[in-house]
Amino acid sequence: MDTSQMSRIQDDFDASLKTVEDARSLQDLKVRYLGKKGEVTGLMKEMRNLSNEERPAYGQKVNELRQHIDAAVEEKRAEIEAAALEERLKSETIDVTLPGRTFNIGSQHPISRIIEDIEDFFLGLGYEIQEGYEVETDYYNFEALNLPKSHPARDMQDTFYISEEILLRTHTSPVQARVLEARGGKEAVKIICPGKVYRRDSDDATHSHQFTQIEGLVIDKNIHMSDLKGTLELFAKEIFGGEREIRLRPSFFPFTEPSVEVDISCFKCKGAGCSVCKKSGWIEILGAGMVHPNVLRMAGYDPDEYSGFAFGMGPDRVAMLKYGIEDIRHLYTNDLRFINQFKQTEDGGETLESL
Ligand code: DAH
Repeated sequence: MDTSQMSRIQDDFDASLKTVEDARSLQDLKVRYLGKKGEVTGLMKEMRNLSNEERPAYGQKVNELRQHIDAAVEEKRAEIEAAALEERLKSETIDVTLPGRTFNIGSQHPISRIIEDIEDFFLGLGYEIQEGYEVETDYYNFEALNLPKSHPARDMQDTFYISEEILLRTHTSPVQARVLEARGGKEAVKIICPGKVYRRDSDDATHSHQFTQIEGLVIDKNIHMSDLKGTLELFAKEIFGGEREIRLRPSFFPFTEPSVEVDISCFKCKGAGCSVCKKSGWIEILGAGMVHPNVLRMAGYDPDEYSGFAFGMGPDRVAMLKYGIEDIRHLYTNDLRFINQFKQTEDGGETLESL
């Protein structure tokens, strides 16, 4: 029996095994020796050419070679797997001493916040929120509010006209006219209308061609000036603090009669006089009045049966007063350094000291 061939095969295998580095080439090597057409399998096939005496010893030798290869392959496989696991553990190690990743929480824009606060207050009093159109007709923006064409009071609101009859609304008051008309002259109305408005103003620290307003309207039987006053007093205390008082001064708006300008006592100096209230102790915050009979009539309401009050205010101005913002342009120029000052803490509290 010639065993030199077997020794050669084993030596070759041992040498090849040393160069194997991954599971795939290990498998290829195994197939080369033990596969169907492998070298060891070839030796097995030789058995049939041997005599009965030679066969057992030969078979044993081939078997030994086969077991040697099998064991060596398995050992190598375990080595490769252990190395791969080691590698993976190394790459996935978590360094628990590293600081956590912070993520940025945005902050609500001060105008949105003021609008939400005001909405919450009026919703609590049973008002509905109504929205109209930023592109309006001359009729709802002016005529239905007792401002016929060529009325001199139109000059108070310099207007962006799109065509002769279509414009960008100059105030939120047209929502009043639309809602009244839609209610058909019969139902009571209790609404606030927040939204954007537009005027042909040159932008500066206190003027902007686009800003926000909130309109309020209450119509029912037996609504009096005292209802308006009580509502606005509660409003002032809610938004500007419990000790605030209000003061009504006579004014003029075509859609209300009588009309008033409403001031609140200064929240900064408590009435003593400071730069916020221009030393007067009072700050003007809105316009209001009893709805003009012409406005009621045009919408189909009988002014002898129904009466009501209306008011209009600017959340931009309220935000500026409340947060001490000196230039209205900060509200629109999207400077993150400005907006980030209004971040809320995780528990919903506020971080700006002046709030
Ligand atoms: N629309 C007015 C303006 O933009 C504000 C206003 C004043 C609205 C009195 C009202 C009101 O509803 O009664 O200047």
